[in-house]
Amino acid sequence: MANAFSNAFALGTRVKLDRILILGYSARVAEMFPPLSGVGGDTLPPQKKTSTRTSNMTPPDETPQPPYSKGLKGIVANLTRLSDVRGEEGRLLYCGYDIEDLVDLCSYGEIIYLLLNKRLPNRQELEGLQQRLRRDRELPQPILDFFKTATKTARPMSALRTAVSMLGMYDDRTKDPTQMKEIGLSLIAKLPVMAAYYYRTCQGLDLPPIRTDLDEAAHFLWLLKGKEPDPNEAHILDVAYILHADHGMNASTFSSRVTASTLSDMYSCITSAIGTLKGPLHGGANEAVIEMLKEIGEESNVEAYINEKLAHHEKIFGIGHRVYKTLDPRAPQLRRIAIRLTQTIGEPKWIRMSDMIAKILRDRKNLNANVDFYSATVYYSLGIPTRMFTTVFAIARVAGWVAQILEQLEDNTLFRPLSRYVGTNEPLLVPMLDMR
Ligand SMILES: CC(C)(COP(=O)(O)OP(=O)(O)OC[C@H]1O[C@@H](n2cnc3c(N)ncnc32)[C@H](O)[C@@H]1OP(=O)(O)O)[C@@H](O)C(=O)NCCC(=O)NCCS
Repeated sequence: MANAFSNAFALGTRVKLDRILILGYSARVAEMFPPLSGVGGDTLPPQKKTSTRTSNMTPPDETPQPPYSKGLKGIVANLTRLSDVRGEEGRLLYCGYDIEDLVDLCSYGEIIYLLLNKRLPNRQELEGLQQRLRRDRELPQPILDFFKTATKTARPMSALRTAVSMLGMYDDRTKDPTQMKEIGLSLIAKLPVMAAYYYRTCQGLDLPPIRTDLDEAAHFLWLLKGKEPDPNEAHILDVAYILHADHGMNASTFSSRVTASTLSDMYSCITSAIGTLKGPLHGGANEAVIEMLKEIGEESNVEAYINEKLAHHEKIFGIGHRVYKTLDPRAPQLRRIAIRLTQTIGEPKWIRMSDMIAKILRDRKNLNANVDFYSATVYYSLGIPTRMFTTVFAIARVAGWVAQILEQLEDNTLFRPLSRYVGTNEPLLVPMLDMR
């Protein structure tokens, strides 16, 4: 017993001494108490550890460092066959097809198929996909109950993020990695339903029954507004969905792929992506644009408003892009739709104001409008509530997220970059709590 005690004591002493040595607390203490030999030697960390720590004390400028890119700017982190974002040319292609052709000739359903299979469907394949999505729209009761009891003041993106995460708890397929694609399709079908139902629950409105005779965009408008969707409006939303479906290694896609790279489940990947898209530097910008237009109010206020923002080094939402250094090719497409819409059902002054803002930023800062700039006016003109704008982006982008997650898993490597430590270089002595 006495032996065991003294061994334990000696071991504790040795561990403390090691720590003192490592921290460089006092060389004299080390001299006075040389390391004990043969006591609990097997369990002690090897002496090498001390020297490893000492080498960390070399000033960083003398040590060769791996390359550093803040925000991973300009770093290629994966290979993809999905979207080709040609920043210098201002072009965007999905699986080799230019989006300018895709919006003219395809429906959003075809784009979902294209992204998931890397080829366009024939008629039979498209119908098969449409049937598959239409059958999978119903939400489990716990999600409907959650919407009833959840706070009514949360951002719809927060509700969507939480509902997707919650849905994963009720799906046993998450344990089976071969079900990733099936779950992905199920989420593509359910996201619009969740978004619309949360919104209507918050407004105290009834929940229109799920229908199986409408495609994705028309069905969302039916659920959101509770009335027969106008085919023209449904077509415009379908085009907006195509333009938002995928976009290289944007922040939300990146976070979805990071989560996938840990071999986590599809719900977790999409939850990560929604949380990332929510931010105003990413998908949240479309809501910020409409708030800005409302705040400006009149064309005569534009110049002064932008001057004021730029003077305070504030960002103008919907302007600028990390990759496009010319035009974001989605912006003119959405502008064209916005002009058509505002002539009939919206407020034309918003397009005029938007054009004025875009011109000022182009002339003064060489920055162009991005996808969120004109989509804000499109959604507003379609009667979609402002607080739902980013959710609409998520509904369209989920197809890209699912495709990117599946692509990640085809040739997976864990995402795990480095960070460069730039804090104090000398290991610090931890002062006792009462001495701080
Ligand atoms: C999208 C975005 C994050 C890309 O940013 P980035 O490539 O990291 O570029 P930075 O934020 O470093 O900006 C570079 C310069 O352009 C300026 N800039 C970029 N976007 C700007 C904007 N929207 N309004 C005003 N200035 C802007 C920055 O202030 C900075 O100027 P400085 O060098 O004089 O400091 C950025 O353009 C932005 O914040 N835009 C507004 C949000 C938005 O619309 N997001 C949706 C993107 S699809």
